[in-house]
Amino acid sequence: MFIDSIKVIDIPKIHDERGNISVLEKDILPFPFKRVYYLYDIPSGTYRGGHAHKEQKEFLIALSGSFNVIMQDENGAKKNVTLNKPNQGLLIPNMIWRELENFSSGAVCLVLASDVYNEKDYIRSFEKFTSIKKQY
Ligand code: TYD
Repeated sequence: MFIDSIKVIDIPKIHDERGNISVLEKDILPFPFKRVYYLYDIPSGTYRGGHAHKEQKEFLIALSGSFNVIMQDENGAKKNVTLNKPNQGLLIPNMIWRELENFSSGAVCLVLASDVYNEKDYIRSFEKFTSIKKQY
């Protein structure tokens, strides 16, 4: 998968004097999600991710606070995105190496994933990720 297919997507926001509601429905996401999980209580200086998914796609939202996502595709092209708005999400296709870092205090990262948890879908070794690339 190529770095160009990584997208920051605006999530519609309904605003009134009581605050905001953001809604994910219809075709905002290019995949139907089967799993929702969230990262929270993240100690300062923590690094997360450090893997790619063979098939699964994910959509990340900074529900609160901010963090950086550092990504690399099979060809070595890199992309960095800072997520810091609850009405914006990052679409990460399959076969993209990702690392999450620089979490602000109180950051919450919500993830919508295209499938249920499956450890076999992970590539956790960067060396393995770059060697799989060569087979394409
Ligand atoms: P991992 O995906 O490696 O976390 P991150 O990418 O945020 O650093 O998951 C950490 C641990 O949690 C690992 O042992 C697998 C487990 N886990 C589940 O059991 N189910 C899930 O849906 C997720 C995302 C993780």
